[in-house]
Amino acid sequence: MSVFELSNVTYVYQSQYQRVEALKGISCRFEPGRLYAIMGSSGSGKTTLLSLMAGLDIPTEGKVLSDGVSTADIDLEQYRRERVAVIYQDFRLFPLLTAAENVMYPMELRGMDPASAKKRAAELIRKVGLPETTLDRFPAMLSGGEQQRVAIARALGMKTKVLLADEPTGNLDSENSYNIFKILEDLAHEDGYCVIIVTHDSELGERADMTFRLRDGQLI
Ligand SMILES: Nc1ncnc2c1ncn2[C@@H]1O[C@H](COP(=O)(O)OP(=O)(O)O)[C@@H](O)[C@H]1O
Ligand SMILES: [Mg+2]
Repeated sequence: MSVFELSNVTYVYQSQYQRVEALKGISCRFEPGRLYAIMGSSGSGKTTLLSLMAGLDIPTEGKVLSDGVSTADIDLEQYRRERVAVIYQDFRLFPLLTAAENVMYPMELRGMDPASAKKRAAELIRKVGLPETTLDRFPAMLSGGEQQRVAIARALGMKTKVLLADEPTGNLDSENSYNIFKILEDLAHEDGYCVIIVTHDSELGERADMTFRLRDGQLI
């Protein structure tokens, strides 16, 4: 059994006026310890696929399976809280919380006591290569690259070993992009995370352990 798997996934956007088959029969498996890239041009279905993997919706047909559990058979809110961590292009840190509080948030959601969460947040901030002084700073006081590191630290505060990243370097310059990619690669290769990056950056695509290419909603 794979840690994460898509089995014959089809997704249809259906409105009163039109029907768009955004994904057609997608099957692929993801293993721990590897970094995957999902690539494709605009309109190929990347965002739709990521939304299904992130548990924002369930497939029209087929299954998204996390440790063999289908997103259709689990409360989606619970799925999003426990089974996948998502890192976004625009970081999505909570602006009124400090870096430490941002990282503590998912831990506190699952009932960890504040003192342990605080200690763990400090470890994770260190793990993503940020100095301790970052902990008490607000997102607006951090550069884009720093914010993305905090967002990764927050993702690591979840218990899951599946990390989804939506264009994680899309808002960063090339040096910061490289640094973020390297952090994600180390998390896969050294800590056994299953890292799945959705990107249109072909350089990232080439450096991944495996690349899936989407065209018109199908894998090619
Ligand atoms: N809310 C929606 N309603 C109808 N069609 C949509 C909607 N969102 C996306 N689509 C269509 O689904 C297809 C895949 O879109 P998307 O997943 O956003 O691709 P990508 O992220 O690769 O650009 C496109 O044809 C797009 O026009
Ligand atoms: Mg998109």
